[in-house]
Amino acid sequence: MSFFESPFTVAATASLIIQIFVLGLLFYGFVLKKNQKFRQHGLAMLGAVVLHAITIFAVMVPSFVGGFSGPGAFDFSNMLVVLALVHTVAGVVAFILGVVLAVNWRLRKDLKPCFAKKQLMRVTIGIWMMALVLGIVLYWFFYLATLVV
Ligand code: HEM
Repeated sequence: MSFFESPFTVAATASLIIQIFVLGLLFYGFVLKKNQKFRQHGLAMLGAVVLHAITIFAVMVPSFVGGFSGPGAFDFSNMLVVLALVHTVAGVVAFILGVVLAVNWRLRKDLKPCFAKKQLMRVTIGIWMMALVLGIVLYWFFYLATLVV
């Protein structure tokens, strides 16, 4: 089956492109913060949370349910299974923390509640970056590597 004949591969590729865009948004948001453009920083991060939510619910949840439903799915001697689980846990935690930060702000003019969450933002961006990089690595192993061989 060619690359574009599998609807799942196309969905996963669309998700990958969005994830790379999310990674770009995180860097952009960080640069905005460095330039003291805090409100724009908050908006960029909010956009990243929304895009992340779309990829989680449209692609990753169905992929997880499909991939981890058969017998022997949780084979921890398989490096890919371990990477997929770490990616999943990190992605879900980053998503929850992102929602917490966005709800804490609620687009208010007053940014004091955001300043108070600086440590949580550091933790969130670290976990989020890890999840995104692992997602890109997994895409390589699940889809591209099979095309190259
Ligand atoms: C949703 C995910 C978010 C992530 C991943 C994130 C990430 C970060 C990071 C990495 C920093 C730098 C912390 C440091 O200086 O060590 C920061 C600072 C900051 N962020 Fe966010 N942020 C998020 C959401 C928000 C939101 C919604 C707002 C509200 C406007 C906001 C406002 C701020 C402010 C005001 C600072 C400066 C804090 C300070 O220097 O004391 N952030 N953020």
